[in-house]
Amino acid sequence: MSQRIADALSDRYQLDRELGAGGMATVYAAHDLRHDRLVAVKVMRPEVCPATSTERFLREIRIAAQLTHPHILPLIDSGESCGVMFYVMPLIDGETLRTRMARAGELPVPESLRILRYLLDALAYAHSQGVVHRDLKPENILLSDSHAYVTDFGVAKALVETSAATWASTRLTAMGTTVGTPSYMAPEQVGGAAVDHRTDLYAMGIVAYEMLTGHLPFTLETAQQVMAAHLAMRPEPIAKWRPAVPLRLANAVMKCLEKRPADRWQSAAELLAEIEAVSATGSKTSAGSEIECRLIERRFALTEGICRKLNRATLDPRIIGDFLRYADNQVSSDVLVCLLHGLGLGYRELEPHLKRLPYRSVSPSLYDYETDRRLRISLSLADHIVILREWLLDVVERFQASTVVLVGFSCGTDIWLQLLLNDPLPRVDGLLGLGCNLSIDTCFVSRVLARMAPDKPEVSIAELRRFGETAESLDEWLNVHEYLVRVLRKFQGDMGVLQRAAAEIVGPFKDTQDFATFAQWFKGARQRVPALRLVFSSDSGSQAALARLKLKNLDTGILGEEFPESIITVAPDVDHFQLMGPESVAAHVDEVVTEARTRRRPSHV
Ligand SMILES: Nc1ncnc2c1ncn2[C@@H]1O[C@H](COP(=O)(O)OP(=O)(O)O)[C@@H](O)[C@H]1O
Ligand SMILES: [Mg+2]
Repeated sequence: MSQRIADALSDRYQLDRELGAGGMATVYAAHDLRHDRLVAVKVMRPEVCPATSTERFLREIRIAAQLTHPHILPLIDSGESCGVMFYVMPLIDGETLRTRMARAGELPVPESLRILRYLLDALAYAHSQGVVHRDLKPENILLSDSHAYVTDFGVAKALVETSAATWASTRLTAMGTTVGTPSYMAPEQVGGAAVDHRTDLYAMGIVAYEMLTGHLPFTLETAQQVMAAHLAMRPEPIAKWRPAVPLRLANAVMKCLEKRPADRWQSAAELLAEIEAVSATGSKTSAGSEIECRLIERRFALTEGICRKLNRATLDPRIIGDFLRYADNQVSSDVLVCLLHGLGLGYRELEPHLKRLPYRSVSPSLYDYETDRRLRISLSLADHIVILREWLLDVVERFQASTVVLVGFSCGTDIWLQLLLNDPLPRVDGLLGLGCNLSIDTCFVSRVLARMAPDKPEVSIAELRRFGETAESLDEWLNVHEYLVRVLRKFQGDMGVLQRAAAEIVGPFKDTQDFATFAQWFKGARQRVPALRLVFSSDSGSQAALARLKLKNLDTGILGEEFPESIITVAPDVDHFQLMGPESVAAHVDEVVTEARTRRRPSHV
């Protein structure tokens, strides 16, 4: 310990031992003589770079003095004595997160969650004060008695500084040290672009990744390589290192690591809400395995009251008192997800999804789609919608969820959208549609099935043969045929039911002008559902339809607003069938749930 420093402070603080040192300063445990207590004294090391470090140190003092939060170390005192600048804060009798990880390796999930909650709370506060930390890393996080503190606002930036001061300080940091530490630097920091509170969320994501896996997302030889990786390389999924990390937590962390700030969590508060939700559900879903769920079949009784609402002209009385069957994954969660299958399928095809989702998830099979029914009564699409509406009102009421999200697969989304057009409706907070129909061109398989002729097999075969020729890749050919074989087998001997269902899916698109049907559905859902997301695959068919829709909207404003890029989105590099896969669906559902939580509106009945 330097005698000069000890002497300079000796009338107020008696330095005891060195606690640690970073790039610019050394921190000592000291005895505060006036108040007879132990404190930590941070002393600038002037030899580093006198001009810049003085300015930097003063800024740190200014910012620290402004912040009062239980998880940010407060400034107790500061000053200069005999040319030695110092800054006094409470002594933390513990260790840094770096030391903790070096000792323990990856941390238990509950401990990581606790630390994250404290840090995010602190960050949300700092951000609300217009302060961005810019150097979050385990060395700057102190742990004591199960609490965590953010420290070292040495390169923090007050966004409210006057532009002249900002310019000066930016230049200062450019000339002096690099702002940030390579392993924790956000792409925009590496690229020298504008930095904001989301830069801290990226660093937070890296810290969380490290706590959970014991690894940095990018471990490379040189600082340059690491920085390049932040710009361009995809981090390994957390499950690769540690499959037992809850899926939802892993997703939350990975979202921090998005390259573009706009794709990350948009605020510390938003991420904090998610982390709290993960902690509260104690979700057993892990990133590498299926959730512990007990999938059961439930029955929803088609009572007289419900059947009275069906079309009387076609009503077959045998349906009265029968049931709509639905699967329930029985996961305990305050989120209820209702999944609706595509044409000709049933909830059995969605079992992998039901097992994968960390939310209470239920999924009905349309009444006449099940093969093992006592009797098969074919229903019109309108009657299906009546029954689904009653079912939805019932499950939302029964499960008392705080967030309700509908998920539709292909034309399952078409059905949800139609259902949302009319009352009565339960509260719906989110709708995720995967590859719904946009126009007659996108109804490609339905159109083929609609042309099946139950009593003229030669017509059906000719249609199918013609259809097979349209596949553009082997993958597409296999997927489409796999699907066709499955549904055709299921409805063999009962082809009329499938043909009718297909025709009714195509129906609304047949006689209307380009996109008019979709636009009407879209506008309806937009009014009803706070978190709406329609995701399309990147195959050429849907891309062409989307491109035409965009043009149409440009010319006529058919969607009633500018083309909503954040609502109608494309999943890159996936075909229709990959888009429907459990992994992809789980990720999209998480996003919609998060959005629904943040935008929840009061219910309308
Ligand atoms: N209040 C404190 N109590 C205990 N140890 C501390 C305290 N503040 C800092 N340290 C230790 O000193 C190290 C350097 O402090 P820091 O403020 O990060 O300085 P620098 O700006 O040089 O990085 C920290 O990593 C930590 O080990
Ligand atoms: Mg530091």
